[in-house]
Order: sequence, then C-alpha cells, then structure tokens
Amino acid sequence: MVMIAPAPVHRDIERVVWTEAQIQQRVRELGTHLSTDYAGRTLTLVGVFAGAALFLADLARAIVPSVTVHLDVVGVSSYGAGTTSNGRPRITQMPELTIFGRDVVLVEDIIDSGATVAFLREQFQIVWGARSVRVCTLLDKQPHLCRAEYLGFACDPVFVVGYGLDYAEAYRGLPYVGVLKPRVYQAT
Ligand code: IMP
Ligand code: MG
Repeated sequence: MVMIAPAPVHRDIERVVWTEAQIQQRVRELGTHLSTDYAGRTLTLVGVFAGAALFLADLARAIVPSVTVHLDVVGVSSYGAGTTSNGRPRITQMPELTIFGRDVVLVEDIIDSGATVAFLREQFQIVWGARSVRVCTLLDKQPHLCRAEYLGFACDPVFVVGYGLDYAEAYRGLPYVGVLKPRVYQAT
C-alpha cells in the first residue's frame, strides 16, 4: 500500500477546512450513493469546468463498473476575478455528448447563490432535453436550501480554494480545501 503524506499547506492558506483524506473519503461515499441510485444504467456525469475537474475525476473512479459512466464537461461563467457572483451565468463551453434523453448528474465544486445550478438545471432539462437532471456538489454554502441531490459538505460562508476551487485561476491544484488569507484578495 502506498502511503501519501499530507501536502504541505500553501502560504496563502489561512486554515485547511477539509484535508485530502477527508475529501477522498467523502467522494468515495458519494460514489457509493450514485452507484446504488444508477445501478445497471448509463449515467452522464457532466462536470462544471474547471472548478469541478478534480472532483469529477475522483467521483467517476468511485462509481462501480455496473454503472456505465459517460463523462463530459460544461463551461459556465458567472464570476469574474472577484469573490462574489455577478448572478448572470452563461454557457462558455458546450458539452460534447448528446444530452437529449440522458440521465445527467451535474457535478459542481460549490453552490453559493444557487444561480449557476438553477441555470444549468433549466439548460440541461428544458433546453437540451435530458431525461433527468440531478446535481452532485462537493460544497454548499446554504445547504438548508437543498439545491443538490448529492452533497459532500456544508460550507461556512467564507471564500475557499483548492481541490478545483480557484481564486483568479490560482490554487485549483491543492489537494485540500482551505480558507484563503484575506490579504490575498484585498491586495488586488
Ligand atoms: P453561485 O452561482 O452563486 O451558486 O456560484 C457558484 C460558483 O461560484 C461555483 O461554481 C464556483 O465556481 C464559484 N464560487 C462560489 N463560492 C466560491 C468559493 O468560496 N471559492 C471559489 N469559488 C466559489
Ligand atoms: Mg464552479
């Protein structure tokens, strides 16, 4: 067995909220839920690029082979380089696969206002004609609003980065999720 030492914490991170081991454990649990719910079926797993890229890759590997997993990504933009949503999502990259008639699970990194996920649900279901659309998000800042069928962790209303989540495109490669030091975004 290969032991993976915890990654050293980046100097711009104030504190780690979920470690690599905690994330990997939770992703395996979510994969087990999806494996049960989609047993014997074909599931089109669509990651919201780029934030969900790492989560998508790990989740796909956590789903048992009796589920046929089709993988795709969709690009949607609602944030500029800041830390708050401007609330007007738009498609920046179309999925490659046929969505019409498919059972789709949208894979998101984090839900904040919910505007991105609400827009994507409508787009996949009504505009592109998916048979079903569910949402699997790693994090949700307002989990009581129940905007995802599958949730990794409830997240406090702070700006977090890592495991796909960025600030101005940086920090996506960190294997853990942490709170950014305020001086990093106050400096710009
Ligand atoms: P919403 O449309 O307000 O729900 O925003 C969702 C999108 O905003 C996510 O897909 C993320 O890309 C981004 N986002 C929201 N909160 C954070 C955060 O704390 N860190 C990094 N990105 C975030
Ligand atoms: Mg995102």
